[in-house]
Amino acid sequence: MTENKPENKPKRLFIKTYGCQMNVYDSDRMADAMAPHGYSAASGPEDADLILLNTCHIREKASEKVFSELGRLNEIRAERQARGEELLIGVTGCVAQAEGEEIVRRSPEVDLVVGPQAYHHLPELVAKARTRHHGLGAREAASAATRDGRVATDFPGIEKFDHLPLPRREATIARGLTAFLTVQEGCDKFCSFCVVPYTRGAEVSRPVTQIIREAEALVEAGVMEITLLGQNVNAYHGVDDRGRAVGLGDLLYRLADVDGLERLRYTTSHPRDMDDALIAAHRDLDKLMPYLHLPVQSGSDAILKAMNRRHTRADYLRLIERVKKARPDIAMSGDFIVGFPGETDADFEETLSIVREVGYASAFTFKYSSRPGTPGAGMTNQVPEPVKAERLDRLLALVTTQMRDFGKACVGRTLDVLLERKGRMPGQLGGRSPYLQAVHLEAPEHLIGTIQPVEIIAAGNNSIQGKIVTDKEPKSVSVHESIALLQP
Ligand code: 5AD
Ligand code: SF4
Repeated sequence: MTENKPENKPKRLFIKTYGCQMNVYDSDRMADAMAPHGYSAASGPEDADLILLNTCHIREKASEKVFSELGRLNEIRAERQARGEELLIGVTGCVAQAEGEEIVRRSPEVDLVVGPQAYHHLPELVAKARTRHHGLGAREAASAATRDGRVATDFPGIEKFDHLPLPRREATIARGLTAFLTVQEGCDKFCSFCVVPYTRGAEVSRPVTQIIREAEALVEAGVMEITLLGQNVNAYHGVDDRGRAVGLGDLLYRLADVDGLERLRYTTSHPRDMDDALIAAHRDLDKLMPYLHLPVQSGSDAILKAMNRRHTRADYLRLIERVKKARPDIAMSGDFIVGFPGETDADFEETLSIVREVGYASAFTFKYSSRPGTPGAGMTNQVPEPVKAERLDRLLALVTTQMRDFGKACVGRTLDVLLERKGRMPGQLGGRSPYLQAVHLEAPEHLIGTIQPVEIIAAGNNSIQGKIVTDKEPKSVSVHESIALLQP
């Protein structure tokens, strides 16, 4: 009669993901880990039996969101409990890692707090939380001691990847034609503003064969484009099955050999780790998209030094020259922080000038946010909030213009577009250019899952429009699509 036990009933899982793409990847992996335990995707928090908030700690605003969301979820839970239904609430991600005990103190109703290195333990942690619920009753569970097994943040390195299941085929098909694949986690750079080395820990790289196997599983489920992820992805230093050291450049060459994998990207990189092999990969590999996210953070040498970036403005510009020599059409993307402690008007002008000099196709701009435990937080020369706000506005205006100009410069060109989904309007499809631009065009639905040559005819603020230039055979067809075409 086991099927009547509550733990064997089908369950629904809702994961709310905050922050970077690594969290998006992790959320998918957690869903994959819970699937064999009867958890399928809920449509929203209201119909979930388990809700996970996969959190971000990078800036203060991101991490405070968690506590307001927990307050809202507790109300949902109270309603559910009044109906005699179970709802478990967990916090995962970088806030979980950084503030584990504090979360349970501020929100005692939270059932589990799981740091990024412990996701492979999620099924057993959920099972334990359910036992606690049934054994104690909600009120007693809420007042139980902090160290009752709810907080799981003490786990080493990269062992989770040995235990997490491969992406599930059905889930991958549902997720679409592009996928993330984490190859590296953590960071040893210790930029003085950044919490990552503390929340995600020391840098670790997954072995090559594990990555190739995962890429093959994704392709087998129809994925055509993979973005390799790491907090500092170009510091990747894995080993292959013969024990040889492999850097990111070498890894990209190997992944380019995976049949059916049409496009590769990677993010996010540190200028110090752009080595010759990686630059050569940009020259040699058609599958490696001509788009490079290479944060510089500031254009001022004094601020770069205070940030402990370990490169100068000139180093960064020289590096871009080298990359452009290898791949002349490469589109540059970057991250910028304004108002780092000690940043003067003149320093900020240097940031504006490096942006003008490089010309970015896309850029992410942030106001400096003091993070507890980082060297920046202890600096005495903090920049007043209104000054930061004014600088952010000016920088944003500049990068917005550049992004629009980049789109406009594509008008008249023919770009290969991976057609990913139906567009908002009937008869419209949406896809991505090699430069990661969103592209809209009129095309029949059966072309989803193909890469088509598209002439760009107009550029808007956030996307570009085009039309397919030839009716020749598609350049590439996803495995998933070709399976569909074979069916009667
Ligand atoms: N304040 C503001 N922005 C930050 N970033 C990282 N830490 C902080 C901080 N304390 C930005 C950097 C990084 C991006 C992911 O977030 O620009 O590249
Ligand atoms: Fe943070 Fe710097 Fe590491 Fe990037 S390189 S994750 S900004 S410490």
